[in-house]
Amino acid sequence: MEGTSKDDLFIVDEGKDQRKVHAPPQKESASNEEDYAALMAALNANREWLQAKVSINNALVMEGASRSQPRPSDFFSVGECEGQRTIDGEQVPLVLTPSTAGEDHTSHEALAAALRANREWLEGKVVANSAVLLRGFDVRDAAEFDAVVEAMGWPDIRYVGPAPRTHVHGRVWTANEGPLEQFVYFHHEMVLIKEFPEKIVLFCEVPPPEGGETPFVPSFRVTERALEEFPEMVEELDAKGLRYTLTALSKNDTKSMRGRGWEDAFGTSDKAEAEKRAKALGMDLEWLPDGSVKTILGPRALTRVFPGRRGRRMWFNTVVGMHGKEESSAAAADGSEIPANFVQRVGEIIEEESLQFRWHRGDIVILDNLATLHARRPSLPPRRILVATCK
Ligand SMILES: [Fe+2]
Repeated sequence: MEGTSKDDLFIVDEGKDQRKVHAPPQKESASNEEDYAALMAALNANREWLQAKVSINNALVMEGASRSQPRPSDFFSVGECEGQRTIDGEQVPLVLTPSTAGEDHTSHEALAAALRANREWLEGKVVANSAVLLRGFDVRDAAEFDAVVEAMGWPDIRYVGPAPRTHVHGRVWTANEGPLEQFVYFHHEMVLIKEFPEKIVLFCEVPPPEGGETPFVPSFRVTERALEEFPEMVEELDAKGLRYTLTALSKNDTKSMRGRGWEDAFGTSDKAEAEKRAKALGMDLEWLPDGSVKTILGPRALTRVFPGRRGRRMWFNTVVGMHGKEESSAAAADGSEIPANFVQRVGEIIEEESLQFRWHRGDIVILDNLATLHARRPSLPPRRILVATCK
């Protein structure tokens, strides 16, 4: 029976979810012994073919099993937004919208389920694209936004900084309650504090009628361009490190975007306790006669390289925002001045490299805080942007 072909002896029966191989009906006159002998001969002659069939069917079953989990491409479509750019081959920001295929892809519950099932994929996108905009989902308030942030799976990190903020729900806070007509300058969130968030998640509850954008800047682009124009200055400041000062009032002043008082910032009205907490955050305090306090920070880096981000040197400092201001200063850690023309030119580069989109109601933006600086343009009221900071 060496020449027996599988096509002569087997019929492949392809059902929807299973595949069976069986012997074709035998002639009624054939005995059981003959049937058995013919089947064994056929199996032996076609062993390799059978083994290949088993492997293929196992693979089909595995694929079916993974299909029961929502996959990114089942749920999300890639969209576009105004101000988007392609940087090093990646769209910045990556815009994800609900897929039009299938049933419910827009509710906050469906979005949360899709993110929960694809956490590693999302993390990879945030790091590769520096920013992800989730647009077109039906996320309406702080509670729903909180549920979506929880689904992303990143731990919460408490905000420490000068912006006046109010707790709203769960891990969600107002972004900045300083006056809307003021510009909140470009910064990495909590750049001056030892433990800073890796991700900032912003949510648009009420889009501003005019202005009020949250522009952001790929931080490595700033370093690249500063190195083109001031290679020696960049390397010198990077080697020396930076020293900042920032003066805070005792009580909150919501008339200023840096109006967070030290009592609120350090969570105490006791000066000795505030000093202890400041030390833990890597700061020294100098008390001033009017009840305010000068916070001294340093040495701090000019640029930093973080794992998984292509070795890019991030402009991880706040020199432009704090240099030469009434309430703040930035200098080299050895006390030498930073030239004003350098600061001014880097400020221009930051503006030139910034990307800006219009807020739509329900937009959620995830920023890689290790790779982007963000800001707030002056805005007409009303505007309500909420934030969650994540490790
Ligand atoms: Fe911020």
